[in-house]
Amino acid sequence: MVKLLENPLRVGLQQDRIPDPQILVIFGASGDLTQRKLVPAIYKMKLERKLPPELTIVGVSRRGWSHDFFREHCREGVEDFGGGIGSQALWDDFAKGLFYSPGDIDKPDSYDKLNSFLTELDEQRGTRGNRVFYLSVAPRFFAEASMQLGKAGMLSDPEKQRLVIEKPFGHDLGSAQMLNRVVQQVCSEKQVYRIDHYLGKETVQNLLVFRFANAIFEPLWNRQFVECVQITVAETVGLEGRAGYYESAGALRDMVQNHLMQLFTLTAMEPPNSLDADSIRNEKVKVLEAAHLADVENLERSAVRGQYAAGWMKGQQVPGYRDEEGVDPNSTTPTYAALKLNIDNWRWKGVPFYMRTGKRMPKKVTEIAIIFREVPFLMFQSAAKQANPNVLALRIQPNEGISMRFEVKTPGNSLRTRSVDMDFRYETAFGEANTDAYSRLLIDCMLGDQTLFTRSDEVEESWRVLTPVLQVWDAPAPPEVMPLYEAGTWEPVEAELLLNRNGHRWRRL
Ligand code: BG6
Repeated sequence: MVKLLENPLRVGLQQDRIPDPQILVIFGASGDLTQRKLVPAIYKMKLERKLPPELTIVGVSRRGWSHDFFREHCREGVEDFGGGIGSQALWDDFAKGLFYSPGDIDKPDSYDKLNSFLTELDEQRGTRGNRVFYLSVAPRFFAEASMQLGKAGMLSDPEKQRLVIEKPFGHDLGSAQMLNRVVQQVCSEKQVYRIDHYLGKETVQNLLVFRFANAIFEPLWNRQFVECVQITVAETVGLEGRAGYYESAGALRDMVQNHLMQLFTLTAMEPPNSLDADSIRNEKVKVLEAAHLADVENLERSAVRGQYAAGWMKGQQVPGYRDEEGVDPNSTTPTYAALKLNIDNWRWKGVPFYMRTGKRMPKKVTEIAIIFREVPFLMFQSAAKQANPNVLALRIQPNEGISMRFEVKTPGNSLRTRSVDMDFRYETAFGEANTDAYSRLLIDCMLGDQTLFTRSDEVEESWRVLTPVLQVWDAPAPPEVMPLYEAGTWEPVEAELLLNRNGHRWRRL
């Protein structure tokens, strides 16, 4: 149980300002992300009075919807996936600022029409030419939409116009570089917000505070004291009807290149000089530059893939990946990936960083575990009959919190030890953790704060680290190459071997 003390520390990442009046233009407005995440997140901010009253949203997609139809679509999103509309009066006030403009991503006319409409809205709503263009479209349209916005002159003012790009940013290193080039031709890096919703999670941001606002952990945070680091992002969900996207993405592109790499860099980075966006992003890039797969020559010693087979989840039988709708029955798309990375720098040389992510695992859990070195000589009898390393576990979700495992004497006459956990839980200390990542990221973007967004060099370095794996895993192969794991179970046995070679084991969560 943690007692809250008055803490004078003001964290620069915490914004309390209200953004200037502006128009948020969402491309792909008829899609799932808009209805399930973006609109409920924006409405939540409205309820919390974090938005300017002039905030205006314009949905764009190919469908011939009316403003009213779009308003109703948004309302359903808030009711089904958000916390509800609160009061009718509040909703009506919000809905007055919702508009819809049908258009085709690849047609210049659509952008000219949109541009005139936005100028009209500036007059009507007092939005002063401030715009955020949010590309919530299929990744293959990111380049086209950016280029068309640029050609239509809609990104020409670096102070007033911003571009938000969803993940995955590129398909590999080459395509990410190409997309960066297109984007940089039409606007400056200062206008680009590459989104990774993991950076909007409260507990991910807390990693920085935990590491750099406490004096006791940093001296231990290095090769002298740390045996290995394990990063786990396990999900219980399966494909969720996303075969069209997932078949060409797989676990590496969907989760590792972005979400896991963010957790990795924040765990391993050096203290930044300040909390401004570039100081933090510089340090993250340095980690990626020094990172590489443990053994590129023998890839199976640094990367293991897997795919879920049919199994049971919470008493329900679930199909295997290859039997999901829209999936090739011989698919070799991984739904599980485990990697072993090393970092060649003074702090981390020789410390393996293991990461794993999978769908249809027995539990939803995201955790970063720092496993410390064992004591040099064990004087006591341990209940586990072996030395138990200390473990610091940062739980990103659910049950957000931090726990520290250490040895204590068991009650009684003999000097025997047992491991216990000292636990901090966000929920106990603060009420529920604020986990609404999209609200946080949208407001930061409207405020022009890029700290929680990925910079061009960062995204490229992250692809570079994964390139040797992509080259092998993307090559055509018979279905038998893919290790299978039953839905509702942990990793394939090959992933255990990845750690066993170094005398390590995955944590059982
Ligand atoms: C998304 C992936 O980026 O993150 C999904 O595309 C995944 O496949 C999701 O399920 C996980 O996010 P969270 O916030 O539930 O951990």
